[in-house]
Amino acid sequence: MLTRLIFRYDAQQLMNDPQHVRRYQELQCYVGWTDDDAARVASVGALLDPHLPPLVDDFYAEISRHPDAQKVITGGEAQVARLKTTLVAWLQQLLSGEYDADYVGRRWRVGYRHVEIGLNQVYTNAALSRLRRGLNAVLGECLQDDPARLTAVRQSLMTLIDLDLAIIEDAYQTEYTARQQRIERLATIGQVAGGVAHELRNPLNVVKTSVYYLLNARQANPEKLKDHLQRIGRQVEVADDVISALSDFAKLPVAEQRPTDLAACIGGVLKAEALPSNIATNLSCPATLPRVLVDDKQVRIAFGNLIRNARDAMPDGGRLDIQATGADGHVDIAVSDTGVGIPAEHLRQIMEPFFSTKARGIGLGLALTRAILDKNKGSLRVTSEVGKGSTFVVRLVSAPGSP
Ligand code: HEM
Repeated sequence: MLTRLIFRYDAQQLMNDPQHVRRYQELQCYVGWTDDDAARVASVGALLDPHLPPLVDDFYAEISRHPDAQKVITGGEAQVARLKTTLVAWLQQLLSGEYDADYVGRRWRVGYRHVEIGLNQVYTNAALSRLRRGLNAVLGECLQDDPARLTAVRQSLMTLIDLDLAIIEDAYQTEYTARQQRIERLATIGQVAGGVAHELRNPLNVVKTSVYYLLNARQANPEKLKDHLQRIGRQVEVADDVISALSDFAKLPVAEQRPTDLAACIGGVLKAEALPSNIATNLSCPATLPRVLVDDKQVRIAFGNLIRNARDAMPDGGRLDIQATGADGHVDIAVSDTGVGIPAEHLRQIMEPFFSTKARGIGLGLALTRAILDKNKGSLRVTSEVGKGSTFVVRLVSAPGSP
């Protein structure tokens, strides 16, 4: 209930937004709308008025023939009767010659309401086209003795309807996107909450059993006590790791992108990771490689994750190749291992938060890597073959002026 109220409040705010009026005025300017057009439309308002109810009847009769449109009418005949009155009022305002903030706000509201009721926008377009034909026909009858005026009024009226459609469509798109984003945010919160619950439950369960033992064991020997305390200590560390990984994710600041030398950046990460001696490492960055425009600190975290993943994929040793090539304003860095590889069915999910194939993985490493690359206007793609190894290709933007 509260959520609904908040959405309505937002919509009210949006409808009174002076930006919509400016946008409408900008569109009027674009199509060359003038006060003369407004006066021409207003001049036929009284002529067309008696014809509006039959046009509106036809409008709703057509809706009843299209189940996908009809399904949003949930209030039966009473609602249709109300909608007909609303649509006549909408047409009367269309023909009023007054295109002020109230006018634009009401047009915006149509788009907003249609998103709210789940009406597919194609029906608004189709319905408006039908109304347009009806208005055209009536106008033709009313002004048949004055063809020059008919042409001029028709042109103004059709332009006006185009403008209405543009603002309704604008409202529809804006409201639809905002709604989708809210849904996605809620889904993400759900996913994160589920992931955190899952990751913390295991260590907490172990802690719980050990605490139970410590509280209830009679004459426990000191070795056993120490064992349980150590178990608790280890599990607290696991829980702490989960929380640190999450807060890394949450705190990821805006990227401070500066021209960066990749050889130094990746070389530094390799040194810090100190890979085991059974992994042969080769870093190849040609001397002509352009510098890249990234936040050095963030990108180091991203490469650190890829390099650790490669190491974990080669428990019995192997080869890690990091090869950078530059072309067309970007640099590709391929990080290849000769490890176990990733099954095809996991390839799509590996960058999703909380997806892990490792026995003790939290499943945030690649999601964080991708988030970092997104922030740095880069991208990440992967190819892999089970039993042969994987290649992760990072694409970064070259710094302007780099060779
Ligand atoms: C020319 C295209 C259309 C126009 C100009 C239009 C206009 C409007 C207006 C003015 C409202 C009231 C907005 C408010 O609450 O202030 C509205 C709401 C609504 N429209 Fe449309 N509409 C169009 C197409 C359609 C179509 C094709 C359907 C299909 C069923 C439809 C179904 C509805 C429904 C169910 C509501 C909510 C009404 C209520 O509150 O009970 N509309 N529309």
